[in-house]
Amino acid sequence: MATSSFQRAQETVEYLRLKLPEQLAKPHVAIVCGSGLGGLAETVKGSLREEWQYKDVPNFPLSTVPGHEGKLIFSTMGEHQVPVVLLVGRAHFYEGHNMETVTFATRMCRLLGVQTMLLTNAAGGLNPDYRVGDIVCLNDHLNLAGLVGFHPLRGPNEDDFGVRFPPLSDAYDIALRQLAHRSWQDLRRQTPSQRDMHEGVYAYVAGPSYETRAECRMLRQLGADLVGMSTVPEIIVARHCGMKVLAFSLVTNNAVLEPAVRADKPELQGMSREELDAYLSRGRADHQEVLDAGKQAAVDMQGLVMRIVAEL
Ligand code: 6GU
Repeated sequence: MATSSFQRAQETVEYLRLKLPEQLAKPHVAIVCGSGLGGLAETVKGSLREEWQYKDVPNFPLSTVPGHEGKLIFSTMGEHQVPVVLLVGRAHFYEGHNMETVTFATRMCRLLGVQTMLLTNAAGGLNPDYRVGDIVCLNDHLNLAGLVGFHPLRGPNEDDFGVRFPPLSDAYDIALRQLAHRSWQDLRRQTPSQRDMHEGVYAYVAGPSYETRAECRMLRQLGADLVGMSTVPEIIVARHCGMKVLAFSLVTNNAVLEPAVRADKPELQGMSREELDAYLSRGRADHQEVLDAGKQAAVDMQGLVMRIVAEL
C-alpha cells in the first residue's frame, strides 16, 4: 500500500510507462484543460497518441460532475514534435475531494518528467475592464481557501517533492508570460479579433456557489481581477516540486459588483413578481451569450496554447 502521494504518483507513472511508446513516455509539457476548453484535445493531432479515461488510471480521482468524465492524452505538438500530456477535466475541492486528490495529477506530471505546466480555467471577471470572452494571463493569486487552512501543502512535508516553506512571490514565470504575450500578438496578426489578453490576479475560492454581490466587492477590494474555483492548488504544488507555471483564465461572465437593490426603493413599489425579476436581471450575464462567447474564445485560447507549446 502506497503511504505517500509520492509513492502513489510513482505507481501511476509506472503503470502508464509500461504502456506508452518511448517517444511519449517523458512529456515536457502538461496542459490542463478547464471547463469548455477540452476542444484542445481534438486539435492535438500528433501521429502518436495514447488516451486513457481517468477511471482506468490507477490512483486518479473520479469526477463527480455528470457527463464531465476526465481523460489523459499523451501526444506530440508542433513541428518539433514536443511530447505533451493533456489533462482534460480536473478534480475540484468543492466536489468533496481533499487537497491531496485535487493536486495528485500535478504531482504525477512531475514524476513523468514534465517541466512546464500550462493551466486553463473559466473564471468570473471582477476587473471592470474585462469583457466576456477575454483571456487573462495570471500573474498572481489570492489563495483564499489556503489562507484559512485548506492548503495543498498542509501536513508533513513530502521532501521528495520540495521544501517545507516554498516561496510563491515568483510563481508565475515571467519568461513564459512574455512568450504568452508574443504568441498572442502573432495570433492576432493572423486571425484579427476583438478579444484582449490581460494580465491579472486570480482569487481562489472553494465554491461551489457563486459569490454574492458583497463577496464580489470584497474580492475586488482585496485586489482580485478574477474569481474561480480551481488552478491555484495545482499551481502551488507545481511550484513546490520545481515545475514552471503558465496559467490562463477565460472570462465567462462578469461578477456583479453593484450592491443589492434595496427592497424599499420607491420605483419598485407595486411591481409584479415578473417586473421585479426583469428589473433585477438588468446587467446580469445572459447564459446563452456566455456560452457562445465561450465557444469562440475557447478556439482562440487553443490557438494560443498551441503556439506557446511550439515555442517552448
Ligand atoms: Cl463568477 N465565480 C466563481 N467562483 N467561479 C466562476 C465564476 C464566478 N465564473 C466562472 N467560474
